[in-house]
Amino acid sequence: MLMIPNVLDPALYAPVRLPLTQAEPLPPWCYTTDEFYKAEVERIFLRTWNFLGRIEMMPTPGSYFTVSIVGVPVVAVRDKDGSVKAFLNSCRHRGTPLVQGSGKAMMLSCPYHAWTYATDGRLVSAPGMQEIAGFRLADYGLKPVRVETWGGFIFATFDDDAPPLSTYLGNIADHLGPYSFNDMVLTRRKEYDLKCNWKSYVENAMEAYHTPTVHHATIGLQVCNVVDSVGEWIGLHEEHEGTEAVLEGDETPFPFISTLSGLAAQGTYFVLLYPSTVLACTRDCAWYLDVRPQGPARAKVIIGSMFPKTTAARPDFEEAVKVYYKRWDKSLPEDNWVSELQQEGLSPYFKTPARLSTLEPLVHSFGNWVLDRVLP
Ligand code: FES
Ligand SMILES: [Fe+2]
Repeated sequence: MLMIPNVLDPALYAPVRLPLTQAEPLPPWCYTTDEFYKAEVERIFLRTWNFLGRIEMMPTPGSYFTVSIVGVPVVAVRDKDGSVKAFLNSCRHRGTPLVQGSGKAMMLSCPYHAWTYATDGRLVSAPGMQEIAGFRLADYGLKPVRVETWGGFIFATFDDDAPPLSTYLGNIADHLGPYSFNDMVLTRRKEYDLKCNWKSYVENAMEAYHTPTVHHATIGLQVCNVVDSVGEWIGLHEEHEGTEAVLEGDETPFPFISTLSGLAAQGTYFVLLYPSTVLACTRDCAWYLDVRPQGPARAKVIIGSMFPKTTAARPDFEEAVKVYYKRWDKSLPEDNWVSELQQEGLSPYFKTPARLSTLEPLVHSFGNWVLDRVLP
C-alpha cells in the first residue's frame, strides 16, 4: 500500500545529505505534507529572525504595519520616542487584532470592546473592568516581540534565546555593506498569493539553472558563483556590466550607487537571508522577495523595490523607474508560474530517485539547512 512515511525520520534524508554531485533534492513530501510544514513552523519560523518590512513603512511615531508570520499576527509600531517596536497583534482581552494593514495611531484601540494600548504596548484603558478581582492594567500589556533592524530592514523573532541579529547575519555586511541600505528607500511593494510551497520559491530564487528556459524571453542566461558566507545566509554573485534590473534594450536611466566596492561594483548579488528573504542587489538599486509560508502548498510573495534616496528624489524618477518596474512585472510572474507548476507535479506518495545539477549548489545548501533545523 502506498503511504506517506514518517517525514521526520532522518534516515529518509541520507541522499539529501550527500555532497552536491551525489545528492538528491528534498523529497516531495517536504513540499506537500502538513507534518513537515508544522515542523518547519515550530523549528524554523518560530525560532529564526523573520523579515517584517522596511523602516520606511513606519516613518513617524504612531506609524504601524501588520504582518502575519506563519499565522502569528504581528504589529510593528513606531513608538513615541522613535524606536521600532513589535507586538502580537492580539488583544489581551479576547484576542482580536487591534489593527489591520498599515496606518498611524498614537493609541491602538481594540475594535471589539475598546481596550486601548499605547505605542509601547501598555494597556491604558479597559472599560467596564473595575469590578474584576485583582485586575490591573499594568498586567495586560501587549505581548512584545523581539525586534531588531539592519540597514533599514526590520526583523523579529519569537525566540527570546535567539542570538542577536548581527550574529545571525554573520559576515553579510562584508558583502552587502557597500549598498548602503540605510540610504535606500522602498519605492514600490507588490504582493502575490501563490499555490506553491515556500521552499520551491526560495530554491528557484537561488539558482540560475532555470533562467535560460523560464526567463528566455526576459532575463535569459545568468552565470553565477557562490559567495563565501558566514552566518544564516547564502548567496550568489553574477558578474556583468550595467544593471540587472532592466531588460536588455531598455534604457538604464539611473546612476550607479556611489558607495559600491568589491564584488558589489562588479555585478549583482542574489542573497538568501534564511529562512525566506531573498535580496537582489545590483549596481543602481536592490529588491527583496519576502516569501511568507501560508501552509504546505501556499505562499505569499512580496516584492519590494528599493532605490538610493538620491535616485528616488530625482524629478524624473516616477517616469524613468517604469523600465525597472516593467522588468520585475515580467520576470516575477515567470518565477511564480513555474513555482506553481512545479507544485502540481509533487505527490507525497511518490518519491523517485532524483539528482541536482552543479548549477544548483544553493538548492543543496538550502535543503540541508532546512533539514538541520527540522529533523530531530
Ligand atoms: S477582544 Fe479586544 S477589547 Fe475585547
Ligand atoms: Fe527566476
